[in-house]
Amino acid sequence: MLWIRSKSLLKEHVQGFRRQGKSIGLVPTMGYLHEGHEKLMQVARRENDVVVLSIFVNPTQFGPLEDFAAYPRDLARDRRVAEKSGVDLVFQPDKEEMYPTPLEVTVEAGRMETVLCGRSRPGHFRGVLTVVSKLFHLVEPDRAYFGQKDGQQLALIQKMVEDLDFPVEIVPVETVREEDGLAKSSRNVYLTEEERRVAPELYRALSWGKAHWQDALYTSDPARLVHEVEKRLQAVPLFRIDYVELVTYPDLKAVTELREDQTFMLAAAIYLGKARLIDNVLFGGVSERNR
Ligand code: PAF
Repeated sequence: MLWIRSKSLLKEHVQGFRRQGKSIGLVPTMGYLHEGHEKLMQVARRENDVVVLSIFVNPTQFGPLEDFAAYPRDLARDRRVAEKSGVDLVFQPDKEEMYPTPLEVTVEAGRMETVLCGRSRPGHFRGVLTVVSKLFHLVEPDRAYFGQKDGQQLALIQKMVEDLDFPVEIVPVETVREEDGLAKSSRNVYLTEEERRVAPELYRALSWGKAHWQDALYTSDPARLVHEVEKRLQAVPLFRIDYVELVTYPDLKAVTELREDQTFMLAAAIYLGKARLIDNVLFGGVSERNR
């Protein structure tokens, strides 16, 4: 497995792969790899000749009061996980390599980045879209793999690729969960034993919403469904709700009526101790489309 830290060396290898006619799958991450990432790498391994994993804790997607400095890092472990998952090349640049000069030009999304997480994390998705664009230009992947857990991120990246004609297929991969339902996340490491015990209530509340969305009570009044989910989250004393929102998917628009032929995303973010946890469920339409 190659471990590369410079953009120029990465480009040389990418050109080599291209000359040999090999397809490239990219798995962009911020490291501290967990089973969710392993799943992305597994699917990428199955579908491509070459798998490139990027590890970069991207400073531009963290707000000034967020956990950039504290974000968990363990490169030795990441190396073992990547090796085991059959990754061919790891690209692990430092901040100076990725951003040699202050950024003047960035990728922004407008409406779609102002809802859900974008409301409490202004600028976050600008940072994500900008770094993902850079990775697409550097790696020139045929396919790129993103987890459904970050549903808004995935929708925004898909829309960016569509609107800006990036020649890459975005592959959504289903959320990997602990046995009790908690979505795997690098940030779960922040949870104390007590917080970890109640954390699955987030998914439980969203799953309740997914099980009841077709009830007559809610189809004509979706706000009521959101309110019911909110009530369930409020009942967990350690949770502080950031948001619960129901939107159409993947265009992230407000919902006035729940219809069978449309896909919806019910999403929530909560603060739990030092962690901010997000999760979502999809239902209706063609929601079972993930790998
Ligand atoms: O999902 C993540 O880990 C990050 O937002 C990403 C896509 C690697 C961009 O930094």
